[in-house]
Amino acid sequence: MSKQFQGRSRVWLTTGLLLLGIMIATAATLRQTNLVGASPASSATLSNDECMACHGESGMTLTLESEEILWLSIDANKFTNSVHNLEEVACVDCHTDITAFPHPERSAHSLRELSLELYTSCKECHSEQYDKTLDSMHERTLAGGDTNAAICTDCHNPHTQARMTHPVTGEILLLEKVKIPQTCARCHSTIYETYKQSVHGYALTSKYNQDVPTCIDCHGVHNIGDPRTASYRLESPQICASCHTDSDMMDKYGVSTDVVDTYVADFHGATIELFEKRSPDHDSNKPVCYDCHGIHDIKSPDDPDHGIALKENLLITCQRCHPEADANFPDSWMSHYVPDAEHYPIVFYVDWFYKILIPVVIGGMLLFVISDIVRRIIDKRKGASHS
Ligand code: HEC
Ligand code: HEC
Ligand code: HEC
Ligand code: HEC
Ligand code: HEC
Ligand code: HEC
Ligand code: HEC
Ligand code: HEC
Ligand code: HEC
Repeated sequence: MSKQFQGRSRVWLTTGLLLLGIMIATAATLRQTNLVGASPASSATLSNDECMACHGESGMTLTLESEEILWLSIDANKFTNSVHNLEEVACVDCHTDITAFPHPERSAHSLRELSLELYTSCKECHSEQYDKTLDSMHERTLAGGDTNAAICTDCHNPHTQARMTHPVTGEILLLEKVKIPQTCARCHSTIYETYKQSVHGYALTSKYNQDVPTCIDCHGVHNIGDPRTASYRLESPQICASCHTDSDMMDKYGVSTDVVDTYVADFHGATIELFEKRSPDHDSNKPVCYDCHGIHDIKSPDDPDHGIALKENLLITCQRCHPEADANFPDSWMSHYVPDAEHYPIVFYVDWFYKILIPVVIGGMLLFVISDIVRRIIDKRKGASHS
């Protein structure tokens, strides 16, 4: 298959298309009957060059019944550099129904209908991704009748899509990662605008920082679920933990990696970790990381306006669940500090006191119980030997 679309004339007029179509169809028939080379078994298919003889023309359009305009021109340069062309996927591998011109009659009346008809061709070669999408929120929305939910071609233009992942390691390529939030922004623009101002989104979009999460680190890609379920909420600290306990990553930014341990040790986190995860269908009213830090608008705690290191801001957060909380209320919580003699001396010493007191008390009781049992056995034996 030739990857170039050179040497073709640029002077076709729309009226000439039909003539060309007949010529191409004849050529294909000749090939099929083995007069021009191809194996006799192969069906009549058009080469990329043959398709591009028409679709390579610029400004080629068609007005659909919906009165929307369908652009029929395919940019030859972009297609040449696309992953599909580089991997030798031909036009007809996806457009399997088009074998000649005139094309088979279209049933789609609008642009969206056409997309919904054509995108199913992806599953022939990408069944893994296709199957994953089947129980995603987007697919469920689509099944519910809202055709605006994302399908393959909303996120991947089949004619221009570049390689996204490394062919060997499967890791996402750096340039592609930066583009992800923009892909989602086409339909979730408000969230994107918020995300862009967050500590994560700002680092990605302004500094090309690759360590921060994009939309898909928190939501998944092809199997995006409902983020408002109780189980998603309960599992969510794990998403944050995947990066925020990684000291190689966090040391670069001088951010503490104690945040998850201290959260789990805290009364809020402890209840979530110990009890509620075992019955994930129950709604939890305890805070998870994003109740305090925000979701798409996470800021540095030291942010002068919105940072929750500021007591006033933190108090607002607590008041959502502790409405009676007054200005001193946040002091009742140690934040993410691991208590030490300097920061929380009372907690620190009380902690140690218990660490010593509890083993001593329990150990003492055990000793007492055991010696009592031994004593009783000895007494019993003595009694038995006397009678
Ligand atoms: C002779 C010129 C010509 C050739 C060759 C041609 N097309 Fe078309 N194509 C058109 C025109 C004109 C339309 C506008 C709709 C119509 O008239 O069917 C079109 C429409 C389309 C559409 C829009 C949907 C539809 O069915 O109308 C697709 C997809 C398409 N062509 C793909 C291809 C592919 C793939 C090839 C090569 C296998 C190809 N075309 C070869 C002229 C051509
Ligand atoms: C990887 C699969 C794939 C390949 C390869 C492919 N197409 Fe398409 N094509 C599609 C899909 C899917 C659509 C529907 C796009 C959408 O939803 O907007 C489409 C749409 C079109 C359209 C309608 C206009 C548009 O852009 O929506 C034309 C014309 C077309 N293709 C021609 C071609 C030609 C010519 C080639 C080869 C140079 C080609 N296609 C290669 C999958 C493919
Ligand atoms: C005839 C087979 C075929 C069809 C149909 C097809 N693709 Fe592909 N696609 C490939 C091949 C081969 C690659 C090369 C990468 C690979 O090895 O997976 C690829 C690569 C990709 C990549 C980049 C993958 C990466 O890891 O970088 C995306 C995204 C993609 N295709 C999307 C689509 C979409 C969307 C459709 C439907 C419109 C589609 N493909 C239809 C064969 C196909
Ligand atoms: C909501 C946007 C979106 C939709 C819808 C979508 N993808 Fe993707 N896809 C992505 C993103 C983002 C990536 C790259 C991220 C990653 O996987 O690391 C990707 C990656 C891929 C890859 C590379 C391999 C991989 O799994 O990472 C292929 C192939 C692919 N998609 C095909 C498809 C096909 C086929 C469909 C439809 C069944 C589809 N995608 C639907 C956004 C989407
Ligand atoms: C073509 C438009 C489109 C694109 C692109 C798109 N989405 Fe969606 N998405 C929707 C629609 C429509 C819904 C249904 C619920 C709604 O209206 O918000 C939805 C729902 C969701 C939901 C479930 C939320 C809810 O309200 O139930 C999540 C999460 C989501 N999308 C994330 C993403 C992510 C992440 C990306 C990018 C990788 C993305 N979407 C790309 C249209 C899109
Ligand atoms: C740090 C993790 C994280 C990142 C990054 C993230 N989200 Fe979310 N997202 C969440 C959580 C958690 C929820 C659930 C919020 C709730 O309980 O209402 C959510 C909710 C949503 C919803 C549904 C509820 C709503 O607010 O409409 C959509 C749609 C969505 N996210 C899309 C996106 C998009 C698009 C991006 C990228 C621009 C993104 N998310 C980035 C964690 C994240
Ligand atoms: C994919 C990795 C990743 C995930 C997932 C992630 N983060 Fe981050 N986070 C980072 C990185 C990297 C930084 C540092 C960014 C910078 O300073 O430029 C950061 C910064 C922060 C900061 C600001 C710290 C400071 O002192 O400036 C907070 C707060 C934060 N993240 C909270 C969260 C929460 C809450 C979640 C889960 C909902 C989460 N993060 C998920 C990587 C991640
Ligand atoms: C009850 C509210 C609350 C919860 C729940 C919470 N945090 Fe925090 N977090 C704070 C406050 C207040 C600060 C700022 C004061 C401080 O640094 O201790 C902070 C600071 C941070 C920082 C910045 C640390 C640094 O070194 O700059 C990160 C990162 C962070 N939290 C992540 C998380 C993660 C991840 C979770 C869930 C595992 C979580 N937080 C749960 C309130 C909370
Ligand atoms: C999403 C809701 C929510 C948020 C936000 C929240 N809490 Fe709580 N908190 C609870 C619930 C529910 C309990 C009861 C825990 C239990 O019984 O296991 C609780 C218990 C407590 C307790 C134990 C004493 C008591 O009143 O039962 C303290 C102290 C506390 N929270 C402090 C805070 C502080 C300080 C903040 C703000 C930084 C905060 N909480 C934010 C829901 C929340």
